[in-house]
Amino acid sequence: MRKILTVTAVAAVALMALSGCSSRAPEAAGGSAAAGFPADSVIGVALPSKTSENWVLAGGLFEDGLKAAGFKGDVQYAGASTTVKDQQDQISAMVTNGAKVIVIGAQDGGQLGTQVKDARDAGAIVIAYDRLILNTDNVDYYVAYDNFKVGELQGQALLDGLAAKKPEGPYNIELFSGNSADANAPVFFNGAMSVLQPKIDDGTLVVASGQTDIKQTATADWKPENAQSRMDSLLTSTYGSQEIDGVLSPNDTLARAIITSVKAAGKPIPVVTGQDSEVESVKSIMAGEQYSTINKDTRVLVKQAIDMVKTLQTGGTPETNDDTYNNGNKIVPAFLLPPVIVTKDNAAEAYANDPKLSPLTK
Ligand code: BGC
Repeated sequence: MRKILTVTAVAAVALMALSGCSSRAPEAAGGSAAAGFPADSVIGVALPSKTSENWVLAGGLFEDGLKAAGFKGDVQYAGASTTVKDQQDQISAMVTNGAKVIVIGAQDGGQLGTQVKDARDAGAIVIAYDRLILNTDNVDYYVAYDNFKVGELQGQALLDGLAAKKPEGPYNIELFSGNSADANAPVFFNGAMSVLQPKIDDGTLVVASGQTDIKQTATADWKPENAQSRMDSLLTSTYGSQEIDGVLSPNDTLARAIITSVKAAGKPIPVVTGQDSEVESVKSIMAGEQYSTINKDTRVLVKQAIDMVKTLQTGGTPETNDDTYNNGNKIVPAFLLPPVIVTKDNAAEAYANDPKLSPLTK
């Protein structure tokens, strides 16, 4: 029941996001926002398990950036286990240690209510990072890339890739989505479906398996092995005597697992979308295998989060640019960054300022 409510709430948010962004000065957040806090305070950063490269990068960037800003950073990852207890315990310890701000990339957006309430009660300010924290009043700010836009860009890339491959449909496609405990997963999916559904309705796209419900397309814990085994099953059940033209994949880790499955079945690689600009996927795109990814530069997102912390330290109100993210209890004032679609055609330009990815595009 709760999951259904959550997905519905997030879907409503996604629809509201379509109506555009507006600025709004949020009320002073947390107990101590107006007063600020000492410049060398403890700042907690609770990240989820390392299900994609961006999370690995974020940890190091937070360590270095918080130190450079004069704070005592306490950066923790939820373990590889799929339980949420690791992260709940880490946040509780940050509260006990007197953290003034706790930045959280939620392992499970609906399971942190008690911990963020304790944080707020102790006077800390809570910032949701990348993933929204759901069904609680105790989240002050949200900083992320525009998740609905990510989905829209993925849906459009799938259409573009299919049209480039063969001029006319119908095209056989399959749909994948992320971990259902991640508040981003339905937002990505709904963004993509806002582009794809009209083409399914008019017969241009055919989801040959019939699996179009997010519950059927979900990938437990964002694990590549789960996407790979679902793709194996789809190929066996549905693509014995017909070709698969395209696959909506929510991120790069899953895209590569889907491509591995298709290759093992001896089938031609379909148009496969992705997200995160992971090194192996950028290589795959340049080699003509994966079709697209999304550039959500982690350096920029972490800097934005640390800038929020710096503003809060002085007693100021962080800049926000969106008031459409309803977490089920409240609108969380958000700062959203724009994601960029990347294919082989624009990779050199998209990664021109990224010393790690730029050489891969030469
Ligand atoms: C992030 C994606 C990432 C996924 C799996 C999502 O919440 O926004 O960038 O691919 O988690 O780690």
